[in-house]
Amino acid sequence: MSATPSFLMFMKTWLPHLWGSGFGCLLATVGLLAVWAKQRRLLGSRGNLPPSPFQFPLLGCIPLLGSLPHEAFARWAKKLGKIYSCRLGGKTVIVLNDAEIIREALFQPVFSGRPRMYTAEVTGKRLGITFASDETWSIHRTFAFKTFRALGVGQGKIAELIQEEAEKMVNNISQLNGQTFCTTQIIRTTIGNLLASILFGERFDYDDPETHAFFNKMNAVVRYFGPCGILNIFPVLRHIPSIAASFRLVTDALDGAGQYINRLIKHRGGSTYPRTVFDYTDAFLNAQDKEREMFGKPKLFTDQQYMGSARELFFTGYDTTTSTLRWVSFLHPAISSTETERTSSVSHE
Ligand code: HEM
Repeated sequence: MSATPSFLMFMKTWLPHLWGSGFGCLLATVGLLAVWAKQRRLLGSRGNLPPSPFQFPLLGCIPLLGSLPHEAFARWAKKLGKIYSCRLGGKTVIVLNDAEIIREALFQPVFSGRPRMYTAEVTGKRLGITFASDETWSIHRTFAFKTFRALGVGQGKIAELIQEEAEKMVNNISQLNGQTFCTTQIIRTTIGNLLASILFGERFDYDDPETHAFFNKMNAVVRYFGPCGILNIFPVLRHIPSIAASFRLVTDALDGAGQYINRLIKHRGGSTYPRTVFDYTDAFLNAQDKEREMFGKPKLFTDQQYMGSARELFFTGYDTTTSTLRWVSFLHPAISSTETERTSSVSHE
């Protein structure tokens, strides 16, 4: 296993952060010692854990993940099998590397929860769906699922909308007259518009500065959230100024996006119950008014919960679908062969 380059990559990425401040260093050292002491207690009892790759003290296999963690995980799966374990800092994780095994596991109620994570707790405040507490999670997940189905997601109605947006995307690409371009932004815009239609009932107006600002915020979250993942393993690193600064970019961007979404719901607040449901927002406001009638005020369908769920649904759909389509465009034979030709003609010029 080529541990050295990944380890060097890790040192290059994180050491400047770690040494960026004396105070941060001290806290990090105390934190790491505490984790180390805890690990030493746990290491004696590996129980029935499946095999694991080489692990460093305190850090486990983090230094071996390098800049492409999915490749490291795939490499270990080849060596260790479809189920293996590894330590990420103080957390022991079990890695499942087979679609059938993952499916089997996800059907077990014992695997239906999620671990508590520092970044999710701070950004989501346990609102939204993904990291919400048990009751909120189940109610809002079911609500989103039913609403999307009623709106025609996965059926003809949304297929038409997708077709329309896809045509606009193709037109935008043809206007580039064969120039090379990065697919990210053009795909993100299409996906953003589709999600905005389903969630808020509107296509984004790109000449509107507020819309621009909203997209910039979502893109900042996509860019900085990943590197802040280290905080889920060592929350104590939040005291290191450069890491704190990256995380602040994420929280500020999410707060800004939340305010934009809040304004959207305020515009609709005056409409009367029960509304005809054209989008997720209409359905949420109906549920909110129903609770108001029953309990005098909203209980589970509060304004804060709307903001948490709508922002999360936008964000989770935005990044995943964009990345999936980008991979499809790289792997699709028709597109990838054109790309290869272009790349080789550029490299011969
Ligand atoms: C190709 C596109 C997509 C991919 C590959 C994808 C992938 C995933 C995966 C792997 C999870 C489970 C994550 C985990 O358990 O840790 C997940 C959960 C989730 N996804 Fe997606 N997703 C996609 C599109 C979307 C869209 C369009 C939306 C919403 C509009 C969405 C909303 C969610 C939500 C809310 C959860 C959390 C569900 C829960 O906790 O019960 N996803 N997605």
